[in-house]
This record gives sequence, structure tokens and C-alpha cells, in this order.
Amino acid sequence: SADELTGGERKQVDNVAHRGAAGYAPENTIAGFDLAVDMKADYIEIDLQRSKDGELVLIHDTTVDRTTDGTGKVGDLTYEQLKSLDAGSWKGEKFAGEPIPTFEEILDRYYGKVGILIELKAPQLYPGIEEQVAEVLKERNLDKPQNEKIIIQSFNFESMKKMDKLLPKVPIGVLTSNHADTTTDSLEEFSNYADWFNPNYGNVTEELVHQVHTLDMKIGSWTVRSQEAADFLFEMEVDAIISDYPDYVDPRN
Ligand code: G3P
Ligand code: CA
Repeated sequence: SADELTGGERKQVDNVAHRGAAGYAPENTIAGFDLAVDMKADYIEIDLQRSKDGELVLIHDTTVDRTTDGTGKVGDLTYEQLKSLDAGSWKGEKFAGEPIPTFEEILDRYYGKVGILIELKAPQLYPGIEEQVAEVLKERNLDKPQNEKIIIQSFNFESMKKMDKLLPKVPIGVLTSNHADTTTDSLEEFSNYADWFNPNYGNVTEELVHQVHTLDMKIGSWTVRSQEAADFLFEMEVDAIISDYPDYVDPRN
């Protein structure tokens, strides 16, 4: 879509709204995802964890302290307890009462409307979460090749290897923030199970983009919080830009 609007000079890049439009609205909430959709993001990025009683929920940190009015570890709280927390007020009074959404609520509301980049956050804390996520997607027939607007990613490589076996047709991404994970050997290893290589933008070079493409993977980079960072990644010709500010990545701006 970027192409058409810029006369084909700029490569088409997926605009991924990081944790929703996290620069403008509370992260991982419906308010933020709705805004991302309004802002014409191609994907929303969500962080998935699990409550004590097994509900898949959206939250970034492994504790609720920073983004809600509660305290404690996500995995030590029941869904009932998590649901009663205010995940909006910290970002401004107008977001007061925004709840922590469940994975199923997100699929109900957004699947088909916008792509969904699912991050399994700290999956090592939630044994079996890969099978659980696979089950949810299979029940909804979202494990088929045509459903390319679902991607699953994690910083946990073992978890993504497992995910690729469970859902061979769903694109898998590896997230990296260490320069050491950008070596040719690492990239080759990732390409055995991943379709996306998603580094922080400080590690992106033309050479890296070229190598990732040579291995038949795509590259998405994060977290863009300035126009300069977005412009840098456009110049590097990455395939996706993951930003707190979807407008910085919008070709119409
Ligand atoms: O999608 C990339 C990004 O979400 C990875 O870092 O900490 O924001 O989840 P983080
Ligand atoms: Ca994330």
C-alpha cells in the first residue's frame, strides 16, 4: 500500500502498531488497538501471558505493577483478579477503567480487520502456553496458510521452534536484541523454523537486511518512537516497522 501512494519509490512496509498505538493510548488495551485500526495500521502487536487459572491475557510486563492499579505477578493472579484491574488510568484519566483484554476477545474483535502480531512474552513462565495458543488458533481455523495476517513471535527461540512444529503454516518470528544473534550462523539457525527475523533497530544494517532476505526470511524492526527511526528503517528497506506511533510509519504522512 505504501508503494501506490509514493509512486513506487518506497518499498511497501507493514505498519505494525506496537502494543496498540502505545504512544497515544494505554498499551495492550482495546482503546489502543481501536486507535491503531483507526490510524490504518496493518498489524497490531500484542503481548500474551497467562493468568493463574489459565486464561490467556494481554500484558507486557510479567507483573501488573507498571500498567495497572494492582500489584503482583501476572501468573499469580486469577483472571477474575486481572479483569478487575484498571489498565488505562496510568496513561491518562480518559482511559480510566480500560481492562486487561483476553486473547479470545482480541481475536473476536480484530481478526480479519487488521493483522495480529502475537508475541509470547516470557513463555518459559507458562508451561504449555504454545499448545494452548495453537489450540485456540486451530479452533478458529486460523492455522491455515491463507491466514498470513497472523504471526507469532518471541524472544524465546525454543518456544518458537516448538510453535513452528505445532502450527507449521503460521509464520513464526524470532525477536532479538543482542548483536550476537545477528551472525550468519545464528541467522541460518533461525531460518530453519522462522519466517521473520525481528531485531531492535540499533542492530539493523543494509548487510543484515540483505542476509535475512537471502535466507528467505522477512525482517521487522522495533521499537520506533521517532520519525528519524522510522525513516532510517524505510531506508534500510525492512519489511515491517513496529512503532508506538503508527503515523510515523504511514506513507500518507
Ligand atoms: O514486537 C517487538 C517488541 O514488542 C519487542 O519488545 O519489550 O516491546 O515486547 P517488547
Ligand atoms: Ca511485544
